[in-house]
Amino acid sequence: MEHLSEVLKILEGALRHDPSGAREYALLLADKLEDERRARQAEALRRTIARMPGLAVQSTEAAAALPRDDESDTPTVDIEQPLENNRPLALPRFVRQQLDEFVQTVEKRDLWVEHGIDTPARLLLVGLPGTGKTQTAREVARNLGLPIVMTRSDVLVSSFLGQTSKNIRRVFEYASSRPCVLFLDELDAIAKRRDDSQEVGELQRVVIALLQNLDALPESTVVLAATNHPELLDRAIGRRFAFHIDIPLPAAAQRAQIWADRLGSHAPPPEDIDILASVSEGMSGAVIEAAALDARRQGVILGHDVAPLTLILRRLARMLWYEDHQVFESPEAEMIALRRWLPKVFTYRELSEQFDVTTRQVGNAVRSRTEARADSLGAHETQ
Ligand SMILES: Nc1ncnc2c1ncn2[C@@H]1O[C@H](COP(=O)(O)OP(=O)(O)O)[C@@H](O)[C@H]1O
Ligand SMILES: [Mg+2]
Repeated sequence: MEHLSEVLKILEGALRHDPSGAREYALLLADKLEDERRARQAEALRRTIARMPGLAVQSTEAAAALPRDDESDTPTVDIEQPLENNRPLALPRFVRQQLDEFVQTVEKRDLWVEHGIDTPARLLLVGLPGTGKTQTAREVARNLGLPIVMTRSDVLVSSFLGQTSKNIRRVFEYASSRPCVLFLDELDAIAKRRDDSQEVGELQRVVIALLQNLDALPESTVVLAATNHPELLDRAIGRRFAFHIDIPLPAAAQRAQIWADRLGSHAPPPEDIDILASVSEGMSGAVIEAAALDARRQGVILGHDVAPLTLILRRLARMLWYEDHQVFESPEAEMIALRRWLPKVFTYRELSEQFDVTTRQVGNAVRSRTEARADSLGAHETQ
């Protein structure tokens, strides 16, 4: 039988006196039928739903029913609908292939089940901060055409004894009663290893709650999770995820793509993009994106149609400097740091233009400050 998983969910909703759940799944099924060019069937389904009384107030009710943390009275999840068109991620092909494989596994679930193969739809995304894990989760949800229920680990993890486990249970209950992708962001913050010396008792309870809830969840409910610290994650939790995908730092090709895409109509010529891609080796997509957007803004303020390479590099340098909690104490310090970082780009002439001084003054400053403390950019260069 086709679309067995939706039919089962609709049935479950009806039997559990959960008309809104049944309705959501019926609407999802109607969308799928529509996609398959079975417009009449989709229409019939939608008409039946429209005739059901008392469902009009659905959306406000649903908002009120978001799972909440008792102490702060704050929702523990954010819901995002799949239609948002976020900017595409630049990911290496092998990562894309694995993501596609996951999406296929979920979409063709009926087929697998028919063949007696039942891979739970669980995917763990692993990668350094800023590599695009959260965005990837959104993209997966969008590809599946499902809203994403994103946990807010800051609210979910409560300092009150027992409250975190309660919060986890509510989130799972919520996610299992509607068509959605449940996304456990920053999973390590929730599920630290049980042998962590602090707060062992409470942590154990939280991890156990997470395991029990994962196990009780229908296997068809899609669960994604992300972590920057797979080594902190309890192994039993890691094992619950049939798919693990490592999201690496962007390689040169992806860095070039992110620079070009985020600079958009203000992007400098391709040879400059190549320089940017090479200079940003070892940096995350998030850092590149932020620098590009910052340079773009600055370029507009200064009246440039195209953001000049040196401007972009200066904004990038500042960003890295701030990340290292350092501040340029004078324009001279910035000038010297730029010179030490990329002498081929920041020639005396270029610096004299940028800082509105003579080349001789640049030369003097650089020579008199050969021992400059401003060397954090040098450290980034060799990363
Ligand atoms: N490979 C990439 N391609 C395009 N944008 C990226 C990439 N990696 C990160 N970004 C951008 O950086 C920002 C932070 O990404 P996010 O998904 O929050 O990272 P993470 O969850 O891994 O910390 C997002 O705005 C995202 O668009
Ligand atoms: Mg994230």
